[in-house]
Amino acid sequence: MKIIKAKDYKDMSRKAANIISAQVIIKPDAVLGLATGGTPVGTYAQLVEWYNKGDIDFSGVTTVNLDEYRGLARGHKQSYWHFMHAHFFDYVNICPERIFMPKGDDLDEVKVCKDYDRVIENVGGIDLLLLGIGSDGHIGFNEPGGAFEPGTHCVNLTESTIEANARFFESKEEVPRQAYTMGIRTIMQARKVLMIASGEKKRDIIKKAFFGSVTPAVPASILQIHPDFILIGDEEALEGVDL
Ligand code: GLP
Repeated sequence: MKIIKAKDYKDMSRKAANIISAQVIIKPDAVLGLATGGTPVGTYAQLVEWYNKGDIDFSGVTTVNLDEYRGLARGHKQSYWHFMHAHFFDYVNICPERIFMPKGDDLDEVKVCKDYDRVIENVGGIDLLLLGIGSDGHIGFNEPGGAFEPGTHCVNLTESTIEANARFFESKEEVPRQAYTMGIRTIMQARKVLMIASGEKKRDIIKKAFFGSVTPAVPASILQIHPDFILIGDEEALEGVDL
């Protein structure tokens, strides 16, 4: 586990974008695993800026997103499909046929999950996976529980995740109660994992996840044993962490 301290959100975003662009330069047909949430917005903006300058080319890249709300159509403003296009895909030259996300509007959970695992397998697994962290330690939508779920699965979102994500909806009632998410085995099989964390509200969970025991009660904690895991946190998120 490697921890990099960034000055602030902008610096964290730039450092993360640097690692992603290095990956794409080294391997132009890289498979990138991508995350949603507030944290990666700055990273995507930085990548778009470098793309516009001609410094990075996404034409060979494949993307697989971590998760999607179950029951939201792709056109829904709060779907992760929409989020990814609004913040990233619409502004770079990623080939639309190589953009993959679980199909949120398909309620057949067995099929959606099986299909998505097959997609990830068919693209050859993930070279670099970008992650945020939920304040309860969730990654993707792998919520705290009694066991690590291996493959793509359908989850019931916890009350704290529904509350945290309500800020993106008109009201808490509108937040879907379920989501499809990549599983922990798939996340652990990514050849490189890059987590970004910003702000005081992530401080406690960072300590628990990466300086406590590895447990499904804190899903992110499993990354402690990933062979190539980088955490980039800003000063507020990493306050009190000795490097
Ligand atoms: C959602 C996403 C996660 C993300 C988390 C934290 O639950 N499914 O992938 O890491 O939110 O979001 P934020 O970055 O806004 O704190």
